[in-house]
Amino acid sequence: LQNVRSQIRGTVRDAVIRHHKRSGAVLFSDTTLRDGEQMPGATLEPDEKLEIALALEAAGVHSLDAGFPASSEADVVAIQKMVGVVKGPVLTALCRTVNSDIDAAARALDGNPMRKRGVSLFCGTSPLHRDHKLQKSKTEVLKIIADSISYANNAFQIVAFSPEDASRTEVDFLCECYKEAIDAGATTIGFPDTVGILTPEKTADFIKAIHDRVPNIDKVLLAVHFHNDLGLAVANTLAAIQHGGNVVQCTVNGIGERAGNAALEEVVMALAMNADQYKRSFRIDTTKLAPLCQLVAELTGIAIPKMKPIGGSNVFATEAGIHQDGLLKNPDTYLPFRPEAVGADGIQLVLGRHSGGKAIAHRLRQLNLPHTEADAAHVVAQIKRQPKGTVIDDTRLIELLKECRDA
Ligand code: KIV
Ligand code: ZN
Repeated sequence: LQNVRSQIRGTVRDAVIRHHKRSGAVLFSDTTLRDGEQMPGATLEPDEKLEIALALEAAGVHSLDAGFPASSEADVVAIQKMVGVVKGPVLTALCRTVNSDIDAAARALDGNPMRKRGVSLFCGTSPLHRDHKLQKSKTEVLKIIADSISYANNAFQIVAFSPEDASRTEVDFLCECYKEAIDAGATTIGFPDTVGILTPEKTADFIKAIHDRVPNIDKVLLAVHFHNDLGLAVANTLAAIQHGGNVVQCTVNGIGERAGNAALEEVVMALAMNADQYKRSFRIDTTKLAPLCQLVAELTGIAIPKMKPIGGSNVFATEAGIHQDGLLKNPDTYLPFRPEAVGADGIQLVLGRHSGGKAIAHRLRQLNLPHTEADAAHVVAQIKRQPKGTVIDDTRLIELLKECRDA
């Protein structure tokens, strides 16, 4: 009976992989709750993780890297809170290629349906990791990979394997690791650029080599994971998508180890805005993005930089007169997409020394403040005289209008 069950599971699993590959869809795997939370200062309580997981589910992510059960009891508690509550995405738990980690993941995910739970195994494969961290030969590393995947297969239908530091691993050995992993039953192979050293061109070369040199690649999904040490994580993720990556691992606001990970919201919007180039579908509801960015910033305490794409407070704000005039005539003149496309609050015309008469007159009208053209011109002249960096709020605007009338 056990055998029949595992055969059925294998057939279902293969059909799901074939379906995803044939659809050509980009599947978003979010790792905010694992790699993101690993960032110094970003620690989350289990209830906060659940809140973010539910927001990610509402946004439409395919899977959630929910935590690292063997590393902390808080991760186990958080994952257990998600089990049975977060129903859409597959929940995966991170494990070293060690049986006790896989057992810890199985306990944490107990109760989630088989097709909605998985393990994400990782093992260093680069010379640096083999020689210094693991002190293992290539042959030993291959055996560790095969043994741990076979072990994980007993308890999980979804088994991902990532060669840690893949981007600094010899390509031939990297492909050997993937072949071994797939033969042992992995359903997804990961490509992590662990220390964020790649460029889009080198990423493309790696992804092409994996497709060319791993003979059984058709049987699995390829998941990519880029760190942002050179500020290229999003660009590299897009290059991997262009060359056939199936799953992209990202974090909200790009939080994560060191310089962080590829930002989910940026990858999504780059795909949405360039559908003609990528021709790949995805399931994320873009109108959920800005609120998701705010929620993650609020709960992790990691503030969003003002200029950060999608979530930054400046991305729909302008003080420049020419831009304000254009935006008032048609918002598309100076925006790549409207705020409502990402669920943001709206365009903000900041009144300051760079502003022109159009924006100031517009605000006076919005506030129902009767004024002549001469009044508006006078207010503009006053604003231009303010010290640098002064932002004119409504109270100050009313004062300036009053001053010009009294003059
Ligand atoms: O960056 C990395 O290599 C990781 C692994 C655990 C997949 O996060
Ligand atoms: Zn990582």
